[in-house]
Amino acid sequence: MAVNVLLTGGAGYIGTHTAVELAGAGHGVVLLDGLYNSRAEAVRRVERITGAEMPLYVGDCADRAVLDRIFTEHRIDAVVHCAGLKAVGESTERPLLYYRTNLSALMTLCEAMEDHGVRRMVFSSSATVYGDPATVPITEDMPLSVTNPYGATKLFAEQILTDIAAADPRWHVVSLRYFNPVGAHPSGLIGEDPKGVPANLFPFIAQAAAGRRAELKVFGDDYPTPDGTGVRDYLHIVDLARGHLAALEHLGDAPGWRVYNLGTGRGTSVLEAIRAFEEATGVQVPYSVAARRPGDIATCYADPSAALRDLGFKTERSIAEACADAWRWQTANPDGYPD
Ligand code: WQD
Repeated sequence: MAVNVLLTGGAGYIGTHTAVELAGAGHGVVLLDGLYNSRAEAVRRVERITGAEMPLYVGDCADRAVLDRIFTEHRIDAVVHCAGLKAVGESTERPLLYYRTNLSALMTLCEAMEDHGVRRMVFSSSATVYGDPATVPITEDMPLSVTNPYGATKLFAEQILTDIAAADPRWHVVSLRYFNPVGAHPSGLIGEDPKGVPANLFPFIAQAAAGRRAELKVFGDDYPTPDGTGVRDYLHIVDLARGHLAALEHLGDAPGWRVYNLGTGRGTSVLEAIRAFEEATGVQVPYSVAARRPGDIATCYADPSAALRDLGFKTERSIAEACADAWRWQTANPDGYPD
């Protein structure tokens, strides 16, 4: 059954790809984005890909007035909440900005939802809530810990949503703990558009391959991993987006709070990612080994079986496809989205 979704952070990397999958499945999508780290052009491209009209409200989730306008002007059935600041390094330098931005937005959004009788949410969480796991693969019942203010905002947000759902069973909430989303939509029209120097591995690899960065620094090759470099669970952004669709379409099945990992269940090292990118694109990636990045962990990858069991979701795309799609986005949009 088609529903109307308010997608916050809808102009961002996760938001645009999720909007494509929601509209592609016949759902109505209304977008809210402050355009702090994204561009309105990205929304125009989502409309081009889907052929669907997608109203964009430019504003902040912490602004109750803009939320009231949206809930008044549209019949919203559910919210997919992706808006938020997400740079781990920046969060350690500016913790108050992260707590204020990410948590005020969530609480104001939940208050507005409650007042407008909307009590279904898919929440964008992160595998960072697992901290440095004692064992892998990681299951949803494993211990949670805070390793940086960004991760703390995700942990606290999950606690807030757990308590809301426990207090009122009319709330249906699914929290999705992303592992490492990578790649781009195969059209090459939308993709990851980090501002400034990319903090994450894949966009940096793509920019180094394109000559936009002199070389990739591999942050440490002395980890207790098969080749000494960090191991992560890289899932294609289109698979991640489809995970949101699966969660949305299961929201009505069970009241309360549920949480799922979104990952492939496979670990890939930094050197393996570089090789995969070179094989998929035929382009050399210039790199050198540097010191470990403070705060990095050796290994992190998902046990994705709960999402398969309850949501019927599993990833389908390979690292090779993610590399090829990331390269297509990079070469077609060397400077990202135009202003
Ligand atoms: C991956 C691997 C690095 C850059 C972060 C956040 C997490 C989530 C995803 C929001 C690591 C290595 C990286 C580089 C490198 N974001 N690397 N050179 O750190 O696993 O997760 O992004 O939810 O919350 O913590 O991703 O891409 O930064 O790093 O060698 O220039 O690549 O050491 O092993 P990470 P990443």
